[in-house]
Amino acid sequence: MTDRIHEIENSARAEMEKVKDMPGLENYRIKFLARNGLIGELYDQMKTVPAEQRPSIGKEINELRSLVQSFFNHKKSDLEHVSGPKAEQLDLTLPGRQRWIGSKHPLTHTLEEIKRIFVGMGFSIAEGPEIEDDYHNFEALNFPPDHPARDMQDTFFISDKVLLRTHTSPVQIRVMEKQQPPVRAIMPGRVYRNEAISARSYCLFHQVEGLYVDKGVTLAELKGTVVSFAQQFYGSNIKYRFRPSYFPFTEPSAEMDITCFICGGKGCKVCKQTGWLEILGCGMVDPNVFNFVRYDPEVYTGYAFGMGIDRIAMLRYGIDDIRILFENDIRFLQQFR
Ligand code: PHE
Repeated sequence: MTDRIHEIENSARAEMEKVKDMPGLENYRIKFLARNGLIGELYDQMKTVPAEQRPSIGKEINELRSLVQSFFNHKKSDLEHVSGPKAEQLDLTLPGRQRWIGSKHPLTHTLEEIKRIFVGMGFSIAEGPEIEDDYHNFEALNFPPDHPARDMQDTFFISDKVLLRTHTSPVQIRVMEKQQPPVRAIMPGRVYRNEAISARSYCLFHQVEGLYVDKGVTLAELKGTVVSFAQQFYGSNIKYRFRPSYFPFTEPSAEMDITCFICGGKGCKVCKQTGWLEILGCGMVDPNVFNFVRYDPEVYTGYAFGMGIDRIAMLRYGIDDIRILFENDIRFLQQFR
């Protein structure tokens, strides 16, 4: 019996060395300390021990049990120290953790400013889908099938009749389909064009469309509205000019330039030495467009304008490559806190 006690003690010592984790420790407990474990069996065998030896054998077994129990307790606290509750692992010498403060994207800043100005002039805000059909992107905007003006916009087609919108003008159609005049809304959103990617153009960019339709809307009101916008956005001392242009959905059409706000009109790299920057396209809504949305062109007139947001943001913040707007590089974005 005494031999058996020593044997168990040796194996309990050896096996304790091998315990590396909590499941291993549990197996150890079951093997040695549990009611049916090896030490438990020793107590069961006490019956077979002659009565006069029982006190001393009993004492040896008790000692073995408390020895193995103390192995177990030590190992348990070692293991808990490694994998235990967070508070016990707190290392006060570690450097502090950086907290990232979010920032608005420069395009968001720019768009918010544009929205604020137009909302102040009584415009509401509308949106439309980025995946459009040929009808809204072209046909109802008075681009007939095979019209050469369709080539002006390099379109990503999804199928014959479905495409990624090339401008925000289809939202004009969607708004007029849903609502009777008066309509006065701006329509911001993403647009897509299949252009060669460079520092100046990307396959994706942003526009804001404007539309005002009512009885007796005039070209003078169009001019007053976009000039007021430009003065609020770029500064009241800018000069501006309108150049005749062409869009299938407006007649007459124009593009608006302002004096370059980088050089003040003297000529610089940004304005390509002209002193002028083109900021938007605009015009009076073509009566054919009203026919598509069943507005009576004899009763209603309207104006529309459209501008690119990315270029404005780039000029404002001195960004010289459009692609950086879409890379989500944290080093870039952090600069706009
Ligand atoms: N949709 C035109 C473009 O993308 C801009 C525009 C909008 C012109 C509204 C006139 C009126 O170039």
